[in-house]
Amino acid sequence: MKNLNLLKDSKSLLSKYLTKKVFEELKNRTTKDGFKLENIINSGLENPDSGIGVYATDEECYKIFASLFDPIIEEYHGFKTTQKHKSNLNPDDLKWQNPDPKGEFIISTRIRVGRNLKNFPLGAGISKSQRDETEQKISETLNSFEGELGGKYYPLEGMGESDKNLLIKEHFLFKEGDRFLKSAGLNRDWATGRGIFHNYQKTFLVWINEEDALRIISMQKGGDIKEVFSRLSTAITKIQAKLPFAYNDHLGYITSCPTNLGTAMRASVHIRLPNLGADMKTFQQIADKYYVQIRGIHGEHSKSEGGIYDISNKRRLGVTEVQCVQDMIDGVTALIAKEKDLN
Ligand code: ADP
Ligand code: ARG
Repeated sequence: MKNLNLLKDSKSLLSKYLTKKVFEELKNRTTKDGFKLENIINSGLENPDSGIGVYATDEECYKIFASLFDPIIEEYHGFKTTQKHKSNLNPDDLKWQNPDPKGEFIISTRIRVGRNLKNFPLGAGISKSQRDETEQKISETLNSFEGELGGKYYPLEGMGESDKNLLIKEHFLFKEGDRFLKSAGLNRDWATGRGIFHNYQKTFLVWINEEDALRIISMQKGGDIKEVFSRLSTAITKIQAKLPFAYNDHLGYITSCPTNLGTAMRASVHIRLPNLGADMKTFQQIADKYYVQIRGIHGEHSKSEGGIYDISNKRRLGVTEVQCVQDMIDGVTALIAKEKDLN
């Protein structure tokens, strides 16, 4: 295990909750699949600038290492160990009013959920042959879809550099070489077993074996958030009918990173907010009030460009999918109102 002194100046939740007592309690534990504390915390140790710093290697480690995971989960999601997760994918339950009816602010909308297959370790713990098996199962299922969701699977291995870079630039494909994932062991055997499925219009996409086995994505230009959510709900239901996902009543859908547990949903808009961008204190205050997160437009850990931001729901566990999308709608509505005020 790397030296814990690496956490000396870290502000991560790992550093906050890996107290001496917790360390002593967990240091010799092992999951049935053979994973240890060092597997779980390596990313946070090698990247002291992490916000969180831990990744699960299999479903069981959320139990075995609960005294580290539970307080992290509670702080991030506001979710207590006594609570149960609940799901609602019905778009008609949204309190829906387009926050930007004239299309002045919202450039595009994207909603994704993460999923992992039942009876397989998570990406940080999976073997190459298991990963290849999941790629086969998932791509076969997706390639059988027809109609609006019909499309084709494109493995990353062998994809031309220019095709790949264009997909990344246009926000459809994941970037390569994320150092947080690398330290967690999630980039082993890259690029084998990874790829992207998308429909013809690129409004329904599935990433295979990036941070989670599946990232199911619905996206389109503009701010019709309800339409994007409806397409995603249909897609999730169809995929779920064919593939069993890792799920339990307490933590909901099981994901590599504890921030994604529960719904595993991130509903976001790319939105032009230059006035708020010049007053980050007010921007952050509104974001905190409405449980939304501010990111740059080239994905996590990227910077804003031209006053455009990625605004998404922060809570994912202990709230339903409808509530995740509602958090984003309410946050975006408040941000647009403030942006207009600042003119
Ligand atoms: P994740 O959604 O899995 O948390 P990222 O934050 O890294 O991951 O985003 C993945 C990609 O999706 C990036 O290219 C990002 O720019 C793009 N993206 C996110 N939200 C939107 C959006 N509302 N419109 C267009 N692209 C988006
Ligand atoms: N491990 C990184 C950190 O702690 C990312 C955490 C959340 N994002 C994610 N993609 N899981 O900062």
